[in-house]
Amino acid sequence: MPDDQPLPAPLLDRLAALLGPRGLLTDPADLEPHLADWRALYRGRTPCVVRPGSVAELAEAVRLCAAAGTPLVPQGGNTSMVGGATPDEGGRQVVVSLARLNRIRDIDPLDMTMTAEAGLVLKAAQDAAAGAGCLFPLSLGAEGTATVGGVLSTNAGGNTTVRYGNARDLMLGLEVVLPDGQVWNGLRRLRKDNTGYALRHLFVGAEGTLGFITAAVLRLFPRARESEVGFCAVRDEEAALALFRRFRDRDEGAVRAFEYMSGEGVGFYAKHIEGGNVPLPGHAHYVLVDLASSRPPEGGNTGLRALLEAVLEEAMEAGEVLDAAIGESEAQRAALWRIREEHPEAQKREGASVKNDVSVPVSKTPELIRRSSEACARLIPGIRPVPFGHLGDGNIHMNLEQPVGMDGAAFLARSHDIMETVNEVVRDLGGSFSAEHGIGRLKTDMMADWRGGAELDLMQRIKAAVDPQGLMNPGKVLP
Ligand code: FAD
Ligand code: MLT
Ligand code: ZN
Repeated sequence: MPDDQPLPAPLLDRLAALLGPRGLLTDPADLEPHLADWRALYRGRTPCVVRPGSVAELAEAVRLCAAAGTPLVPQGGNTSMVGGATPDEGGRQVVVSLARLNRIRDIDPLDMTMTAEAGLVLKAAQDAAAGAGCLFPLSLGAEGTATVGGVLSTNAGGNTTVRYGNARDLMLGLEVVLPDGQVWNGLRRLRKDNTGYALRHLFVGAEGTLGFITAAVLRLFPRARESEVGFCAVRDEEAALALFRRFRDRDEGAVRAFEYMSGEGVGFYAKHIEGGNVPLPGHAHYVLVDLASSRPPEGGNTGLRALLEAVLEEAMEAGEVLDAAIGESEAQRAALWRIREEHPEAQKREGASVKNDVSVPVSKTPELIRRSSEACARLIPGIRPVPFGHLGDGNIHMNLEQPVGMDGAAFLARSHDIMETVNEVVRDLGGSFSAEHGIGRLKTDMMADWRGGAELDLMQRIKAAVDPQGLMNPGKVLP
C-alpha cells in the first residue's frame, strides 16, 4: 500500500461499527491534538484516532487492525519528550488514545495497592491515593496530563526516584492487549511472585512497541505527615553534591527529592513564568531539597525542620550553601517547587533548545555538568547551558539553549552535534544517553552505537516474537 493511502474502507467501517462516534475520530479538527509532540519536533498524520471505551473494544480493534496489517501508535497524554506517541508522516499509522480507559478499578489501603486503567491522568492517581489516606509517589512536571499507561510505558522517573524508584518500581501487575488482540491479565497485586519470566517488566519502558498497557496494579505508600522544602543557592556543582551527601549521611530515608538548577534556568523561570518570583535571585547554582516523613510531627521544631536547619548550617559554615529559603507553609513549599517544575516550560519560551536527558553515577554529576557545558561552548560559542534535574539519582537534564540572537532553526540544525558532544562526556563518565524520557523516535539512531551487539539483538528478537508483523509503534525505540 502506498504510504499516503488512507485506511482500507472495510476496516474503517468495521472500526466505526465497533467503536461508535465517541470511539473513532476522523474529523481533521479532532485529529489535530494527536498529531504533534509537546516539543513540536514532529508532526505526523493519521487516518483516524481510535478511542476505545473498554478493554474488550480495544482488543477487538487491535484484532481488526492486525488482520489488515495496519500499524498502531499508542498515545496517553502525549507529553513524550522524544516523539514517542506521535504517528509518522506516512498517513497510515492509526493513533490509539487510551484516554477513555481511565477508571480506578480498586484501591486497597491495607494491601497498599491501586488498580488503575492506563488512561488515568497521573495527578488523578495521586489524588485518589491521597483520598484513601495513602501516597502514590511518582511526581513530574507533566503530571496533570501524563497518564498511568504513559508513565509505565516510558518507565518515567521524575522528582522522587531518589526515594521511591522509577515507575517500574511502583508497579506490581499489568493488564496488556497484545499485538494480535489477545488480552493478558497479569493484574496480580503480590509483593512476591516468582513464576517464570517477569513478563510485566517487558512492557514497562517498551514505549508501546510490544502491546497496549490497559491497566496496572500500582504500589501505594504511607502518606507524608510532615514535609520541608529548602531552596538553596550553592557555591558550585560540587557544593550541590556535597549538600546531597550531608543529607544522605544524616538521614537518607528523609530525602524525597534533591534537584539541581542553574542560575540560567532559574532566570528563565523569573523571566517567563507568570508570578515567577525567585527568593534568592542572582546566584549561579541552586538546589531544591524536599524532606518528608510519614511519622506524625511532634509540634514546634519538628524532626525534619531540625534536620534541614542543622544540615544547612553545617553546609553554610563549609561555604557550600551561600543562602537558603525554607518554605513555611504548604503554599510556600509549592511555590518553591514551582521554580523547578516550570523549568521545561520556561526554557521552551526562551527559544530553541536541545535536550539531553542523561544519567551518570551520582558522584559524577558535577563533572558531567562542567565538562559538557565547556565542550558545548567550544562547539557553539555563546550557547547557553541550562542543566537541571534529578541530581539525587544522577539524572541531569543537560539542556542547551540557543545563543542570544542566533536563529532558532540554525541552532536546531546543530542538534545532532550538540547531543553527540554531551554524549561523549556521558560515555566517558559511564553514563546513559537516555535516563528517563526513553528513546521514542528521537534517539533510535543512538541505539546501535550504545546498545549494539547482543543487547540490541536480544531486543530485536523479543520484538519479533511478540509483534511479528511489526505493527506496534513502528519507528520507535529500535533502529
Ligand atoms: P505519551 O507521551 O502519550 O506516550 C509516551 C510513550 O508511551 C509513547 O511511546 C507511547 O506510544 C507509549 N504509550 C502511552 N500510553 C501507552 C499505553 N497505555 N500502552 C502502551 N504504550 C503506551 N518524564 C520523566 O520521566 N520525568 C520527568 O520529570 C518528566 N518531566 C516532564 C515534564 C514535562 C513538562 C513534560 C512535557 C514531560 C515530562 N516527562 C518526564 C516526559 C514523560 O515521558 C512523560 O511525561 C510521561 O511519562 C509520558 O506519559 P504520557 O501519558 O503523556 O505518554
Ligand atoms: C523535567 O524533569 O522537568 C523534565 O524531565 C526535563 C526536561 O524538560 O528536559
Ligand atoms: Zn526529568
